[in-house]
Amino acid sequence: MDKIIIEGQKTLSGNVSISGAKNAVLPLMAATLMVNGKSTITRVPDLRDVRTMIRLMEIIGADCKFTDGTLVVDGSKVNNPVAPYELVKTMRASFYVLGPLLARFGEVKVSLPGGCAWGPRPVDFHLMALEKLGAKIELEKGYIVAKSNNLVGTKIKFKYPSVGATGNTLMAASMASGTTIINNSSCEPEIVQLCEFLNSMGAKISGFGTKNITIDGVKSLTARDIEVIPDRIEAGTFLIAGAVLGQITLTDINESHLNEVIKSLREVGCSFRLSEKSITIFPSKNIIPKNIITDVYPAFPTDLQAQWMVMMALSNGFSELTDTVYHDRFNHVPELNRLGADIKVEKNKAIIKGVSNLIGAPVMSTDIRASASLILGGLFADGITEVNRVYHIDRGYENIEEKFSKLGANIQRVSS
Ligand code: EPU
Repeated sequence: MDKIIIEGQKTLSGNVSISGAKNAVLPLMAATLMVNGKSTITRVPDLRDVRTMIRLMEIIGADCKFTDGTLVVDGSKVNNPVAPYELVKTMRASFYVLGPLLARFGEVKVSLPGGCAWGPRPVDFHLMALEKLGAKIELEKGYIVAKSNNLVGTKIKFKYPSVGATGNTLMAASMASGTTIINNSSCEPEIVQLCEFLNSMGAKISGFGTKNITIDGVKSLTARDIEVIPDRIEAGTFLIAGAVLGQITLTDINESHLNEVIKSLREVGCSFRLSEKSITIFPSKNIIPKNIITDVYPAFPTDLQAQWMVMMALSNGFSELTDTVYHDRFNHVPELNRLGADIKVEKNKAIIKGVSNLIGAPVMSTDIRASASLILGGLFADGITEVNRVYHIDRGYENIEEKFSKLGANIQRVSS
């Protein structure tokens, strides 16, 4: 199993190019399963999750060719609408095939994902929405079996604006008969891009980017091409590195997706030079404590909570970080404390007392974003940090150690 070894406190400088977004490409890939033809997705990050999704799509019958960031999916031979447990348990986003396959085949069998590293993460909203569209849903030996020969448009109101449930519902409703209205839908940029892709394929979706989405069902969709949006979470991770370690420039970004993150970084003492496709961050000489409450877009994202926390661990006072999206997403806290941070958790809130220095130590990754926070911790800490179980980072960050190395960090991957 690989580890990442970091000798910390090196100044960073230079440019880093941001990859395509993991959380955008996965639903786009699922959407290609809805058409009988060849779709090309460009700027696809080479991530473990993308590779897992390709394996799943191949089991389903799609022909996938992935080279140099371009993925061509031929959905003409898709014939096996089943997502097996072995893959779904390693990546919850596999659940995204549910809506598209139900819409195309009238029948789909997808393993229930089960819990994740930080809590239960249920799928009840996805199932409620598909049932409202007319699907008959049963649980068979750990698998959700959904059937319907005629999905019919309806009104669906989510208790919470779930990203995945909005995506699944959109895809299923795109090929239902009649109109579907989703209230309290996700406004995340990744869902906006999914709607744009579906519309380019012939779907009739409006209102995306707001809390109310309307879908006028169509009989079929046509294969189209798309370029994946920049990864705002990878960008935020590099910005936090720059906030502490030096002036760096992020290229190939979409600055408008980062408004709240940039605003928050200004409040901790960073400054910026912004242009259409790049951001330069000038570090904060003295990290000012700032409280953060994560929430759905456009608020501060839960996927940057762990990375923000490690920066606050070095602030000159007390701060609080409340996660309203995932109440238990704090597995990184004991590991950050191993690096000398002083963080306590009370319910869904971390209370962080800034310390003057972090000290390198061996630490263990537990999920994608926790791994990113530990890598940042290693970069910020004095001495050597060894981050174990780095397969988590490979699920969501493309070439992270190469990117940091190019910026001047002393970071390398070793096999043990
Ligand atoms: N929820 C339910 N029932 C459901 C669905 C969600 O109670 O049926 C709850 C969840 O338990 C959670 C909240 O609703 O408390 C939000 O979950 P959501 O469905 O929005 O999350 P998701 O679609 O499963 C995506 C990202 C996550 C990201 C969240 C929130 C992908 C592939 N995953 O997950 O990304 O944290 O939205 O923004 O898009 C990551 O990249 O590290 C990651 C975990």
